[in-house]
Amino acid sequence: MRKLLTLILLAAALTVKAQDIPQVANILGRHITSLNGTWHYIVDVQEEGYYDYRMKPMRNGFFINAKPQRPEDLIEYDFDKADTMQIPGDWNTQDQRLFFYEGTVWLKRSFEFHPEAGRRTLLYFGAVNYDAHVYVNGQKAGHHQGGFTPFNYDVTDLLKDGENQVIVKVDNKRHPEDVPTQIFDWWNYGGITRDVLLVSVAPTYVENYKLQLASLEGRLLQFSAKLNKAEAGHAITLRIPELKIVKKLTTNNDGSATISMKAKPQLWTPENPKLYKVEIQLGDETISDEIGFRTIETRGKQILLNGEPIFLKGISIHEEKPNGGGRANSTDDAHTLLSWAKELGCNYVRLAHYPHNEYAVREAERMGILVWSEIPVYWTIAWTNPATYANAERQLDDMIARDQNRANVIIWSIANETPHSAERDTFLGKLAKHARQLDPTRLISMAMEVTGASNYHNILHDNMSDLVDVVSFNQYIGWYRDVNDASKMTWEIPYDKPVIISEFGGGAKYGLHGPKNQRWTEEFQENLYRENCAMLDKIDGLAGTTPWILKDFRSPRRVLTGIQDYYNRKGVFSDKGEKKLAFYVLRDWYATK
Ligand code: GCU
Repeated sequence: MRKLLTLILLAAALTVKAQDIPQVANILGRHITSLNGTWHYIVDVQEEGYYDYRMKPMRNGFFINAKPQRPEDLIEYDFDKADTMQIPGDWNTQDQRLFFYEGTVWLKRSFEFHPEAGRRTLLYFGAVNYDAHVYVNGQKAGHHQGGFTPFNYDVTDLLKDGENQVIVKVDNKRHPEDVPTQIFDWWNYGGITRDVLLVSVAPTYVENYKLQLASLEGRLLQFSAKLNKAEAGHAITLRIPELKIVKKLTTNNDGSATISMKAKPQLWTPENPKLYKVEIQLGDETISDEIGFRTIETRGKQILLNGEPIFLKGISIHEEKPNGGGRANSTDDAHTLLSWAKELGCNYVRLAHYPHNEYAVREAERMGILVWSEIPVYWTIAWTNPATYANAERQLDDMIARDQNRANVIIWSIANETPHSAERDTFLGKLAKHARQLDPTRLISMAMEVTGASNYHNILHDNMSDLVDVVSFNQYIGWYRDVNDASKMTWEIPYDKPVIISEFGGGAKYGLHGPKNQRWTEEFQENLYRENCAMLDKIDGLAGTTPWILKDFRSPRRVLTGIQDYYNRKGVFSDKGEKKLAFYVLRDWYATK
């Protein structure tokens, strides 16, 4: 009788579904409740909590959070007795046993919830690396892959009045078909690495919107909004108080609405990163945001910001806290790293090689720092695997959907250092076209490579050059090749497009000093920068650069004892924020730009 009852309850529970819904934009501007904080976790190397001993997914895995009901009951896990860690946060820097760990960890959080009549509740994750199975009160909310973009579910029908639980099975094992694929030069920080939020919305809500300066001449602002439902006749109000703008729009059959309006906003620039308070109202719900207005385009070999040529004085950054702190995920983390970039004289950063957290992009916007944002199509991806393409395209969709209103984001990058082949060209060609469809107002690029010279003559040739607005490439003259030959180099970049050197640089152990031809000394790196900067000045059409990299960062590929110790040492800052000699060379070069 009890067994039958359990089965009926389980069957009933399984019929109530959560909904995997499109990413809801500007979560921070909505009614949110944070589930950040202390979560219990269970390390499950063999996925004992998910598969039975025949490797079949179980109905009563750890996600039901079972508790012994009778003394003889056998339950071989107990979240409430398990260790705890802070979320958002990676497990590698919170539990020494998990420093190198790649596998499954279950994370559980209980929380009080009281449903509001007539409201829907979404469960939002800023990011989970890499594979996430999400359960609410023992029922599946959804499954997501990709470690650097947000996702959310409508869990209204899974929640109950009183105590609730969310359990997430996170797995960061690497696979050939993943994006990124099996090998990458950064630490594979695992876990719930960004915010977890409950979001309260009306049954019909504004899912996403776009507000931009469409053209400089007419000073024309363009606004479009899309509801979560294809419903006509909904009244949306746009307010930009400082510009005395109040506009009413009505949705069409698709649930979307668009309007253009004349306005004279101050333009967003690195020197004057002006943001305007914006309110978008539907019914009694108002979303607030801060938006800047600018135009970005190319003209021949120039990049024009607000119609004026600009040189992008940049630096590449990984999303990693200083001082060995693991994945960065807050405004403070971002402010620290971006302040170091500012000390270099930067007006631009390359957020490598994956979309960084929203706090970082918004903090850069407030600090007047332009952004190159990228999806982790990195090195040799499984080009012919349709699931891999779908995954990459979804990450592109989600990156653009989240940051399309950020004035400082000027370049969408679809790849880094990918090997030439027809399959690769097809894959990237589709991605580039897709990005342009989603956002025709920003520049499209990717980090290509120039890995060799014949007789000191370097030629950039890439079939993708026709599909990008800016031709960008990585080159490591002075480190991986042609040490001390930078001054002899000549360049052939046969495209009438702006050129960005998306990576150059070399390693140095902070505090290690010696002759400039001694690897790993600061003097070696300093000399490499001096020679490279002089060489780059000779490149026709150079519109910017993002040397590799702001600070030393962790990588499992860097194993030289006493020097690397699992750190890539190409930072111009050490991981502790100590300036290496190369810092001054780059700073002084940027002062001439
Ligand atoms: C590559 C790659 C980076 C890597 C760097 C290096 O160009 O894009 O991710 O860290 O080189 O070798 O240090």
